[in-house]
Amino acid sequence: MTELDRLASDFGNAETAIALTGAGISAPSGIPTFRGDDGVWKRFDEGQFTYGRFRSDPAGFWADRLELHREMFGGEFEPNAAHDALAALARDGHLDAILTQNTDGLHRDAAFVGDDSPADGITDAADATILELHGNARRVRCTDCGNRTEAEPIFDRAADGERPPTCDCGGVYKPDVVLFGEQLPGAVIQRARSLARESDVFLAIGSSLAVEPAASLPRLAASSGATVGIVNLESTPCDGVADVVCREDVTEVLPRLRDLAASG
Ligand code: APR
Repeated sequence: MTELDRLASDFGNAETAIALTGAGISAPSGIPTFRGDDGVWKRFDEGQFTYGRFRSDPAGFWADRLELHREMFGGEFEPNAAHDALAALARDGHLDAILTQNTDGLHRDAAFVGDDSPADGITDAADATILELHGNARRVRCTDCGNRTEAEPIFDRAADGERPPTCDCGGVYKPDVVLFGEQLPGAVIQRARSLARESDVFLAIGSSLAVEPAASLPRLAASSGATVGIVNLESTPCDGVADVVCREDVTEVLPRLRDLAASG
């Protein structure tokens, strides 16, 4: 029995199975990752995208954010075989929740969940719960009245020189994502931690597991007795607590995992 066979049978028998995803699951869709040789933070200074900078220099923040947004989300992108495999695992009843650090909305697209992700980032879809731990870059939010609206037209206004772009109420718009130095919504991280604690299987996919609080979730799952798997091309700080580590491409491993669990 290979390690993947074992992981698949764990998924098949699990009461609660959780997937945590990072930028690596969207890389095959054409969205750049943050770290590694070709990472975004090699071309942009992450220090320019903190919450503190947004507050102190909103015009400068928006000028830089516009460039980053176009670099990450400027092309056409759609879910890839890895997103589809997780959605299929959920439809098969073998995956209960997807916790994603990604703000691209691709798990919602793959699960055919509408684009109107709720304010707190928790969607209890028919097949699985989707937690957007770091928010959703397809939206912006007014920092005064809280109004949320589609991001692209607002980025277009910023490109035309309205920096920072403002809401009808006069408030400054902010991308609806969690910036460095900003707290995650309490409800999201509490739900993510309780899912990790309850999980029988916890699979971390396409993440360097470098950023808290997501980076601690595999350890929390392991300490609660879950089987922990990691699918990532590079090593992560959590490899030591994992029962299974797959150094393979997400688009190879996840469809195989889904088929093995389905044929259980
Ligand atoms: N298959 C498997 N793994 C892959 C693939 C692939 N096709 N492509 C990339 N990877 C791996 C890389 O080896 C890397 O370790 O995905 C990982 C992505 O790591 P990061 O770029 O650090 O992304 P992530 O872990 O999601 O970053 C977490 O950091 O900058 C913040 O808010 C941002 O949500 C992000 C957080």
